[in-house]
Amino acid sequence: MNPLKPVAAERLPDLLRRMPKAELHIHIEGSLEPELIFALAQRNGVALPYASVEELRSAYAFTNLQSFLDIYYAGASVLLKEQDFYDMTRAYLLRAAQDKVLHAELFFDPQTHMARGVGMETVINGLHRACVDAKVELGISASLILCFLRHLSEEEAFETLEKALPFRDKLIGVGLDSGELGNPPEKFARVFARCRALGFHRVAHAGEEGPPAYVWTALDVLKVERVDHGVQASQDAALMQRLAADRIPLTVCPLSNLKLCVFPNLAHHNLRQLLDAGLVATINSDDPAYFGGYMNDNFTQTFAALTLNARHAYTLARNSFEASFIEASARQLYVDRLNEFFETFQ
Ligand code: HPA
Ligand code: ZN
Repeated sequence: MNPLKPVAAERLPDLLRRMPKAELHIHIEGSLEPELIFALAQRNGVALPYASVEELRSAYAFTNLQSFLDIYYAGASVLLKEQDFYDMTRAYLLRAAQDKVLHAELFFDPQTHMARGVGMETVINGLHRACVDAKVELGISASLILCFLRHLSEEEAFETLEKALPFRDKLIGVGLDSGELGNPPEKFARVFARCRALGFHRVAHAGEEGPPAYVWTALDVLKVERVDHGVQASQDAALMQRLAADRIPLTVCPLSNLKLCVFPNLAHHNLRQLLDAGLVATINSDDPAYFGGYMNDNFTQTFAALTLNARHAYTLARNSFEASFIEASARQLYVDRLNEFFETFQ
């Protein structure tokens, strides 16, 4: 196996598009394309505050995380029935398979649906059924990570966990998302301790807009195994050393960071710096319907902006499998496929 074989620059986009990879940071509600939002609104008789697909899409101009979240939660309001959750997940997995995503770990936000009277069983059964069908029909594996909304209370997170426990065999882990500033990880110390005792994998958004201190407490208080985003870690040399030494993966989302103004442009993104410091960084799409790109768009645009090469591509794809929560023998099969791809690519 020789992933270091040089690849001509003009062949790189093709390599990136065909390379096997895993996606570890995708909010499934963030994969709802405007066309599907309108179709589901019509099917369910939900009124939308936008007259057309074009008008909705033109509202996708964000200045920060909160300006995005307001529109993202409004878009999710069309999801009411199990079939809606199925159709959304099916559409994402079809699209991901085209990008040579072999495995995906999907975040979902049950609290935003339960606030509209949708039951936990409706949400989880729809998502899970789409994952099962996609494995058979598309060969892509997918698992579910329940996210707690950090702008709500820890008590509400506990209630959500309680409601999810009857479905725990359909969940691989828990996460923490929504508005970061003012909602530090330690707000959820007890519920994450409970999830850990229950055997759930744990991840949390930290260091997207929030300070390095939030990444520290995600690690030390929540005991997360991966950090979502984490790009602000580069402001803290001791934190960078910790992340590298403990091989804590970061699920980086370059187009999301661009659209939410975390970096002024992709050329200023710090992904190369994270990789150079030996961190287990991965590339992901976050909310692809809102940020203008799925996995391969994130790869090709970031590689062009930062002039990354085939060695970086191999590292990022390998990291995505290493950082996943797939069981060890399945992981090895994916890594074997990745190695074979790099050996035979021309
Ligand atoms: N950050 C926090 N919460 C989110 C995001 C994100 O990028 N996407 C969907 N919910
Ligand atoms: Zn996210």
